[in-house]
Amino acid sequence: EKTIGILTGGGDCPGLNAVIRAVVRKGITAYRYRFRGILKGWKGMMECDWEPLGLEEISGILPKGGTILGTSRTNPFKEEDGGEIVVDNMRRMKLDALVAIGGEDTLGVANKLASMSVPIVGVPKTIDNDLNGTDYTFGFDTAVNIVTEAIDRIHTTAESHNRVMVIEVMGRHSGWIALHAGLAGGADMILIPEQKYTIQEIVSTIRKRHERGKDFSIVVVAEGAQLVSEEGEENKLGGIGQLVAHAVEEGTSYETRVTVLGHLQRGGTPTAFDRVLGTRFGIAAIDLVHAGDFGKMVSLQGNEIVAIPLAEAVNQLKLVDQELYDLATVFFG
Ligand code: F6P
Repeated sequence: EKTIGILTGGGDCPGLNAVIRAVVRKGITAYRYRFRGILKGWKGMMECDWEPLGLEEISGILPKGGTILGTSRTNPFKEEDGGEIVVDNMRRMKLDALVAIGGEDTLGVANKLASMSVPIVGVPKTIDNDLNGTDYTFGFDTAVNIVTEAIDRIHTTAESHNRVMVIEVMGRHSGWIALHAGLAGGADMILIPEQKYTIQEIVSTIRKRHERGKDFSIVVVAEGAQLVSEEGEENKLGGIGQLVAHAVEEGTSYETRVTVLGHLQRGGTPTAFDRVLGTRFGIAAIDLVHAGDFGKMVSLQGNEIVAIPLAEAVNQLKLVDQELYDLATVFFG
């Protein structure tokens, strides 16, 4: 009987439990594996902290947000001999293989461990959808739906009070959430990290809109978006939402408010799409383990689940589709 470890690393994300359930369910019923749930991501691998994971433990977890295994941002390779400790602990915990569910950082660790001959399979996770090598990650659809609902709600205040409402959403490196939710919520301007904006540009877009008779506006801004001053200097102050709101109010004299959605975007139950994607990823991951096909990450390409080398996922970020952003600009102002 083989023993498989499973862990979740990095920020929590709706759909993690769907993956855990699928991996364990198929692993036990089809392959007769035994599972050890490694607690708090790589921290659990460093400390041999685990608990048994059987059919009972995974029962009823599909609609639950977060991760039943806990998570952390511990990266063994940032600690002395961390990689060797993990390799050692694989042996100590009698693990024949490991399934690591996480984003760029977690999968980066998985990739390094794979090159140290650790039998490992990765499952991509991030609400940001900026992971390379997969068309979508689970958690993204849920986040987009939460933000879209928030935009719809904020719309009513914008209209009733004739205000400019700035909504700051997650996305440090890429504007996937801002772009998709902004499009879905009918935003009048969407600011993303992939583009550079001047205050003047933003102010004149809002002014133009008001000049054509609209007395309210919705601006969606990704947390990683940056303003460039007229001199071309980047503004790296924190709180881009506040900054944009302040600049718009100063520049237009329209009453402006800002809402930072923060961790609301990662909380709670996953959408049906994310439950299905997480389930498909989980099944594919345990099939890879069974096939002995290690050093791979499961990925969605088109409508197919495929396996790609872990290295492909971690070397660069997947930035937003420029064509889709250009399409969104039709609705700006
Ligand atoms: O990567 C997911 C994410 O939610 C980002 O969108 C965000 O920038 C970051 O994590 C927030 O991290 P933390 O939960 O550590 O505040």
